[in-house]
Amino acid sequence: MSLLFSKTTLGSLTLQNRMVMAPLTRNRATGNVPNELMVQYYAQRAAAGLIVTEGTSPSPNGLGYARIPGIFSAAQIAGWKQVTEAVHPHGARIFMQLMHCGRIAHPLNLPAGARILAPSALAAAGEMYTDAEGMKPNATPEAMTEADIKTAIEEYSQAARNAVAAGFDGVELHSANGYLLEQFLRPNSNQRTDRYGGSVENRARFVLEVTAAAIGAIGKDRVGIRLSPFGVFNDMPPYAAMEADYTYLAGQLNALGPVYIHLVDHSAIGAPPVPDSMKATFRTVFKRSLILSGGYDAVRAESDLAAGKADLIAFGRPFLANPDLVARWKAGAALNAPDMSTFYTPGPKGYTDYPALAA
Ligand SMILES: Cc1cc2nc3c(=O)[nH]c(=O)nc-3n(C[C@H](O)[C@H](O)[C@H](O)COP(=O)(O)O)c2cc1C
Repeated sequence: MSLLFSKTTLGSLTLQNRMVMAPLTRNRATGNVPNELMVQYYAQRAAAGLIVTEGTSPSPNGLGYARIPGIFSAAQIAGWKQVTEAVHPHGARIFMQLMHCGRIAHPLNLPAGARILAPSALAAAGEMYTDAEGMKPNATPEAMTEADIKTAIEEYSQAARNAVAAGFDGVELHSANGYLLEQFLRPNSNQRTDRYGGSVENRARFVLEVTAAAIGAIGKDRVGIRLSPFGVFNDMPPYAAMEADYTYLAGQLNALGPVYIHLVDHSAIGAPPVPDSMKATFRTVFKRSLILSGGYDAVRAESDLAAGKADLIAFGRPFLANPDLVARWKAGAALNAPDMSTFYTPGPKGYTDYPALAA
């Protein structure tokens, strides 16, 4: 594992290895504020080169799920500061994933006064868990006005500033998996007739404006973006121009110059694979760092790094279930299996109690 465990750089940052902890929503942030349990969870995993946090909302309007954290209030900034201060001494760098859920939401999960917003007033198929009433259908969102779009862009750039104030090394814009940014990109969820809908140039406009605003707020080296070309999660059906649209996006993002693109491939859990041609396009068109993720073990990660397919590899469930994943792989030790029944439940069970190897 000469590459996986070796130091590298990400923009102006040095990383202690090429292992990224993928963003994992864990729903432990009661009241949408990070707490001591979350501090412990992230500190346990800080042997990674880079941690990308769970999806964190830049706005009260983006809190679609129960118990997910935000980064728009003073209490949230203070809570997250505890996390970054616990992680950094172990050597990991940490980016906050900014996730605005858009239409993947239920009003019972949102604070009073918050609005469920999306490019068009179209509900996503599927259901959403609420603490108060269990499973409920996803809400029908309000179509965003131009003023709502402007406000959302300002919320992303303020959230990026807040993340830096909380000690983060940067932010990852969640433009994957059917959340707000991807809702603008995809034609099924974006049926607008103004300059934010229709052609790919228009559907990509919001994502590119958010990226530019975040870069304007905290700088190119502190902004990454996650994309899921060919992803179908959260009612995002495939369509004919998918590869052409994401090729356009790759070129536009290259011009803006965020520090990385992080591609999601959910084929390990039964979704359509991201074609190799699409991954190769991102590798060629986008000149800064590329992160690949989805179903990786150490051997496949090393092989893709050696083949030059990516600069870093992200691991989700392996880090979830193995706080000492780096040490386990270095030792060739077996891994703990993830327990799906506690992925999203409150409390320490299945969160901070996965055992580390005996010292
Ligand atoms: C419990 C759980 C929560 C997740 N939450 C997020 C999230 O907040 N943001 C995101 O971009 N992806 C999220 N994902 C997807 C993971 O980042 C990753 O892409 C996926 O688990 C596949 O990688 P793996 O095979 O290494 O687990 C989540 C996955 C799991 C299992």
